[in-house]
Amino acid sequence: MKSFKLNTFRLITAIAFAVWFSRFEICSARGWRKLQASPASAATYNVLDYGAKGDGRADDTQAFQKAWAAACNVESSTVVVPSGSVFLVKPISFSGPNCAQNIVFQLDGKIIAPTSSAAWGSGTLQWLEFTKLTKITIRGKGTIDGQGSVWWQGDKMPSTKPTALRFYGSDGVVVSGITIQNSQQTHLKFDDCTNVQVYDITASSPGDSPNTDGIHLQNSQGVVIYSSTLACGDDCISIQTGCSNIYVHNVDCGPGHGLSIGSLGKGNTKACVSNVTVRDVTFQNTMTGVRIKTWPGGFGSVQDVLFSNIQVSDVETPIMIDQYYCDGSKCRNASSAVAVAGVNYLNVKGTYTVEPVRFACSDNMPCTGITLDTIQLELSQKGQDSNGPFCWEAYGELKTQTVPPINCLQTGNPSKNGAGANADSC
Ligand SMILES: *[C@@H]1O[C@H](CO)[C@@H](O)[C@H](O)[C@H]1NC(C)=O
Ligand SMILES: *[C@@H]1O[C@H](CO)[C@@H](O)[C@H](O)[C@H]1NC(C)=O
Repeated sequence: MKSFKLNTFRLITAIAFAVWFSRFEICSARGWRKLQASPASAATYNVLDYGAKGDGRADDTQAFQKAWAAACNVESSTVVVPSGSVFLVKPISFSGPNCAQNIVFQLDGKIIAPTSSAAWGSGTLQWLEFTKLTKITIRGKGTIDGQGSVWWQGDKMPSTKPTALRFYGSDGVVVSGITIQNSQQTHLKFDDCTNVQVYDITASSPGDSPNTDGIHLQNSQGVVIYSSTLACGDDCISIQTGCSNIYVHNVDCGPGHGLSIGSLGKGNTKACVSNVTVRDVTFQNTMTGVRIKTWPGGFGSVQDVLFSNIQVSDVETPIMIDQYYCDGSKCRNASSAVAVAGVNYLNVKGTYTVEPVRFACSDNMPCTGITLDTIQLELSQKGQDSNGPFCWEAYGELKTQTVPPINCLQTGNPSKNGAGANADSC
């Protein structure tokens, strides 16, 4: 009884204090903003205040430029793109390096790309670009729409198709909440970035739209992508050369071509990718599940990869390493390859339609250190009669029995050079 009274007393005191406190803080607009934005400064720059019309027709590019220029000078400031409006924006760069740190791009409205070829000149590599920034966040409930169908058909548009949203040369990048749809080409790209977090995003375009990768990583280190839905016409996630310490989890992919490390080593170039973890990812109606693809003739290596808790459903080829990747053209025979070493598959389950496992490794640079643990892949009802698992010059270990049995994996190490020589070059 005594403690009940005491607790009631505490509760009443707490409520009284909360009411008293809220009068001071919430009743003033300034206090309200202060409560909302922590630990940011109260400096917000709404594009509507810089002349944006937001009617989906007028060109709002200049307004965005002006709002950015203002925000750029103030640490922890916020650019606001409000909900309820549609902003037509031409190719634009939100660039440092002389911008203050910690800018937030609060995107709650919709940004659309122009569809007339005149807006694109002779073609640009990206539509919306954030470059050379430190601590940059894009967040909100808003949408970026590339209106890509005019590009997919190819007719009157420049041959260089832009990436919808690209980050270049930045550290501490956060992208969350937003939807990127119908991109002209790749939806979201990180190039030369460090410490990147992507979560709660959606990338979406039709399964037959050409080259519309979901998320493309290049020369970037320390990237985590999670709680996101990626549906597109090409790779859901593509991990290119120069990437390391990449962690992808709780992502749904499909339609699309799956998740790919590569393609790497095109045109006899060096490629290095290491420490990639992909876990708790689903693939539905995709071309591949988890894939590593390299061109004949490259060098460098892919090392230290874990694919774990992968659920596939009606996927053509769930597990694939292809060192004879030529993107449709005829492969020339080459004496070198990007080495593939230390690739671990753990708990990969579901249905396939063409081939459960394909390890097509290089004659001169066999794949080494492939482990398979708890693999259970069954032919989908939509599938044709399958050839079963395929391996060529693939070395490693079965940690458990697998469904179907994968007898083609060779144990131990190849007598040839293997990954060693190449790995050192990374
Ligand atoms: C591998 O990457 C993860 C991030 O995904 C990181 O936490 C870890 O330290 C990295 N491991 C090594 C050996 O660099
Ligand atoms: C590539 O070269 C190897 C060995 O030199 C040979 O066995 C193989 O048939 C060649 N493949 C093609 C496609 O020319």
